[in-house]
Amino acid sequence: MATTILLKNIKQLVGITENSNSIKKGKSQGEVHTLNNAFVWIKNDKIASFGPMTECPEVNITTHDCSEKLVMPMYVDSHTHMVFAASRADEMTMRLHGKTYQQIAEAGGGILNSAAKLRAMSEQQLYDDAHIRLENAIKQGTGSIEMKSGYGLTIEDEMKMLRVIRVLKSLSPIPIKATFLGAHALPEAFKKNKAAYLYLVTNEMLPRIAGEGLADYIDIFCESGYFDLDDLKLVIEAGNKYGLKAKVHVNQFSSFGAVKMACDMGALSVDHLEVMNEQDYSAIAASKTIATALPLCSMFLDIPYTPGREMINRSIPLAIASDFNPGSSPSSNLNLAFALACSQMKLTPQEAFNALTYNAAFALELENEVGSIEIGKRANLIITKPANGIEDIPYWFGDNQIASVLV
Ligand code: NIG
Ligand code: FE
Repeated sequence: MATTILLKNIKQLVGITENSNSIKKGKSQGEVHTLNNAFVWIKNDKIASFGPMTECPEVNITTHDCSEKLVMPMYVDSHTHMVFAASRADEMTMRLHGKTYQQIAEAGGGILNSAAKLRAMSEQQLYDDAHIRLENAIKQGTGSIEMKSGYGLTIEDEMKMLRVIRVLKSLSPIPIKATFLGAHALPEAFKKNKAAYLYLVTNEMLPRIAGEGLADYIDIFCESGYFDLDDLKLVIEAGNKYGLKAKVHVNQFSSFGAVKMACDMGALSVDHLEVMNEQDYSAIAASKTIATALPLCSMFLDIPYTPGREMINRSIPLAIASDFNPGSSPSSNLNLAFALACSQMKLTPQEAFNALTYNAAFALELENEVGSIEIGKRANLIITKPANGIEDIPYWFGDNQIASVLV
């Protein structure tokens, strides 16, 4: 049902933009426009107007008093694996006993473990579980989201995941984008024949998935032990043939040219980037590709954080997402990602805020719909508990500063 609401006496309205023509990078990555003692008028679920309280319209509609509180756009989570079958908490314990993420994967754990469990689960159950996770993410401030396949690894099961995402898309109050990640790991049955699996992904899965409009983007896990540069090229080209832009997993554990190749091929975003070299930085800086950092994954796996400070210094546009998944980041809490972006990646609260909202909207091509306080954008808004400014979110880390969300 379309709503008309007036938010009044807002202590500070945060993240105001006039237009969303260009992504923020370098100095502008740290620019956040605010207005003290403000109102926001929401009509038909969109931001109809906003301004100082002195100009607040006298209208007879539902009003919310936001004294002492901040109002800001909800976060945009541009990288998640929200549809999955089961917890992999046992792998966390294995890591605590000294095994690495890669060793666990080689022993049949990791992505293949998630795939085996997902294949055994009904579509309805997958949906029910993902729906609960989505509701939880929304409560934590996420107002638009991307979800990947990649735990099916057969035609039927990849399509099953994407159909779950399609139902979530149609029933959820927030925008959702779907990404086909058939090339997430090599399934057991193809262990000795990667080419055959990639043929399946690009010539059988992709045409059917694209034919049914089940995916918006294409992805691949390009990493030692998973897929290499030739595979990256093949998958991006195949996706492009079907009109799917690439958002790719690169440089999580090693750097071997994947960033440059993805940027040269016009990828929308390169995600992870924990391990970076000079060529990687120059390639993103020279392209239109968006760098996406996943600090919750770094925290959970205890691997390096994406050098976000360095990227901003080099005028690379930076987004931040959760990477929510059962193996490397079992959290969708972007408030915690916000805190880690400041304390670990050395971003200012303003830079991190833009990475989680305005820039992340570009990483989902939703910049005209969400990501800032702008007339005409969706009124997916966070109302905080009493706070002085956005720095209170990373400052009071680990504690929930959100009073409510409007979607
Ligand atoms: O983004 N790195 C590849 N894919 C996921 C993790 C997948 C898993 O461990 O289940 C990631 O970290
Ligand atoms: Fe991921």
